[in-house]
Amino acid sequence: MTTHTEAPINPQQQALEDELVATVVASFDAAPNPRLKEVMQSLTRHLHAFIRDVRLTEAEWNTAIEFLTAVGHITDDKRQEFVLLSDVLGASMQTIAVNNQAHKGATDATVFGPFFVEDAPEIPLGGDIAGGASGQPCWVEGTVTDTDGKPVPGARIEVWECDEDGYYDVQYTDERVAGRAHLFTNDQGQYRFWGLTPVPYPIPHDGPVGKMLESVGRSPVRAAHLHFMVTADGLRPLVTHIFVDGDPQIDIGDSVFGVKESLIKEFAVQAPGSPTPDGRSLGDRTWARARFDIVLAPAGV
Ligand code: BEZ
Ligand code: FE
Repeated sequence: MTTHTEAPINPQQQALEDELVATVVASFDAAPNPRLKEVMQSLTRHLHAFIRDVRLTEAEWNTAIEFLTAVGHITDDKRQEFVLLSDVLGASMQTIAVNNQAHKGATDATVFGPFFVEDAPEIPLGGDIAGGASGQPCWVEGTVTDTDGKPVPGARIEVWECDEDGYYDVQYTDERVAGRAHLFTNDQGQYRFWGLTPVPYPIPHDGPVGKMLESVGRSPVRAAHLHFMVTADGLRPLVTHIFVDGDPQIDIGDSVFGVKESLIKEFAVQAPGSPTPDGRSLGDRTWARARFDIVLAPAGV
């Protein structure tokens, strides 16, 4: 196998390449929107730096164009391969980091993913989000507070997750609504619901992004998780998930880099027949329980 050898770049060639960068950067000088100008000029500098850094061949440039074309072709209103690409490159998580700055003890945000659906059913406190999805029942409870520790009543909590086979409801063709719901915190800022113990599953990998992961020897599998989106008046919206302590995929690596230490929670498995928090009878099934106390930053930080 041939590898790239670093031929020294002579000063005349360097000057030519520098001049092209400067010319392209200057082509944005008159952009009426200063933010657009800043973004395009920075993009130009970084893109040219990348091309020069790897001494991109024309064949590689062609491959990149073909790859991006394939990403476009598979994208429609149900499948967003560009977002998936951003996810596996860590660009989604970096954008989230930049836009959800650490603030006192506010809960960390993580990647949104493609499987959120508006208008998921409302459940009462202690209700069940499964809607027929298969998996080990899991009692999830916690509080929503602000960064001063004050409970947040009426916070809207959206939760969604895959079934034990690793599929979200929207990945089935039968229009089922399962493994998702929303609920509201009570006057003490508390919430609780029955969900399913999360399992690891692969991101959609039958397209160009999956092919790219395979080419570089990366797994498409995500660490097991349960998605949350929490909104409340005057507070910064939070999109996050919780991960399962002990899930081997956390060490193997999450394909979209979504894991944060603070979001790894104990999902304590309970023996068959052990009493449930709300008296629900689960016969001889095991079940699990997890606690997730959510802290929302003030809006605008
Ligand atoms: C998800 O967790 O649902 C997800 C996130 C990023 C890409 C694909 C799926
Ligand atoms: Fe997910």
